Amino acid sequence: METIAFASDHAGYSLKKALIDYLTAKGYKTIDFGTDSEESCDYPDYAHPAAKAVEDGEADFGIAMCGTGNGIQMTLNKHQNIRAALCWRPELAALAKEHNNANILVLPARFVSYDEALEIVNAYLDSKFEGGRHQRRIDKIAVK
Ligand code: RB5
Repeated sequence: METIAFASDHAGYSLKKALIDYLTAKGYKTIDFGTDSEESCDYPDYAHPAAKAVEDGEADFGIAMCGTGNGIQMTLNKHQNIRAALCWRPELAALAKEHNNANILVLPARFVSYDEALEIVNAYLDSKFEGGRHQRRIDKIAVK
């Protein structure tokens, strides 16, 4: 079964915990890079290690969240081989996999309910990258 790297700040902590429980029950292996409580913290401290785990192949993909999703997504996308997609609807998550081969799904924890988050995560998990013209576009993302 695949391994998922998780990261959040305090705003995403409870959703992260719930998703880890949900996905562990589904049989996924998870690595939790923190944070470990609702005490105020800085999302880059957790985003960078999770991004590195995905880049290094320690995890197959990642799921990350902060309050809006923006800060953690911005941080993750500083990594050359990370394509982190902020998704607040299942359709966006499916397209992030199908068209962008997103390797980290990002959720805006303060703007989605737990049930909505599950739908988004499942849409991402159930979708497949389409390759072809989308691979060509992905190959042009990196700043050389
Ligand atoms: C924390 O209050 C909040 O700023 C953070 O979770 C996130 O939304 C930043 O982008």
